[in-house]
Amino acid sequence: MTKQVKSKERVAEHGEVFTAEREVKAMCDLVSNMCEDYSKRFLEPACGDGNFLAEILSRKLANIKKNYRRSSYDFERFSVFAVSSIYGVELLMDNVIECRKRLFAIWDKEYKNVCKKDCNEQTREAVKYILSKNILCGNALTLMRVDENQQDTDKPIIFPEWSVIGGTSLKRRDFRLDVLLKVGEKPQDKKQKSIFDNEEDITKYLTLNPVTGEYIAKPIKEYPQLPYRRVQEND
Ligand SMILES: C[S@@+](CC[C@H](N)C(=O)[O-])C[C@H]1O[C@@H](n2cnc3c(N)ncnc32)[C@H](O)[C@@H]1O
Repeated sequence: MTKQVKSKERVAEHGEVFTAEREVKAMCDLVSNMCEDYSKRFLEPACGDGNFLAEILSRKLANIKKNYRRSSYDFERFSVFAVSSIYGVELLMDNVIECRKRLFAIWDKEYKNVCKKDCNEQTREAVKYILSKNILCGNALTLMRVDENQQDTDKPIIFPEWSVIGGTSLKRRDFRLDVLLKVGEKPQDKKQKSIFDNEEDITKYLTLNPVTGEYIAKPIKEYPQLPYRRVQEND
């Protein structure tokens, strides 16, 4: 069993107590169908080293393996899409690095196991790249990126949305997390500011759905679609 506490100081300063595997599994069981679906997106705010994300990724990969164990072509692409659906925010950079490495190791173990001699470094680099964009060092309360002393910077947390196009390509659109959290609200709700709202007016990143009258997020940047093995070329 992995340790739930790294040090007394980290518990006192950052509330760092990791969730035990039994509880993680029990909570994932509550949404087991979603956890098996490679396309369902999950965000773990305050993800630590990724206890929930690791379990969710393992479940997604197990399901892909069940369906595509005889096809390297299908296992590879669906497993990359599964990684691209997993997001995390964490205050401490050492946890962020551990989380990315842990998710990569889970994916790579299954990749080797299923794809064997068909494994290639280009796909591994693409997966590392996606994890570097999806698991970010930031403050989940203010929704800003943080520096090495866990202090807020002036940069908001921005996540890429990866959409599968034509079965083998990924289209990336970047969104601010604070904007995404307003989606589905109506303009009058916006006036009730939360204590965690930052000062910037973010309505310029929102547009109104003419049918429902609710906010929809606008991407802050769109990239051309690329074959999934080459997603890093857009940077
Ligand atoms: C209770 S632990 C939970 C970790 C993981 N979610 C789990 O269940 O095992 C809380 C984590 O949140 C991080 N944390 C504390 N304040 C945070 C904040 N404002 N934004 C993002 N992460 C934060 C801590 O560094 C710690 O890793």
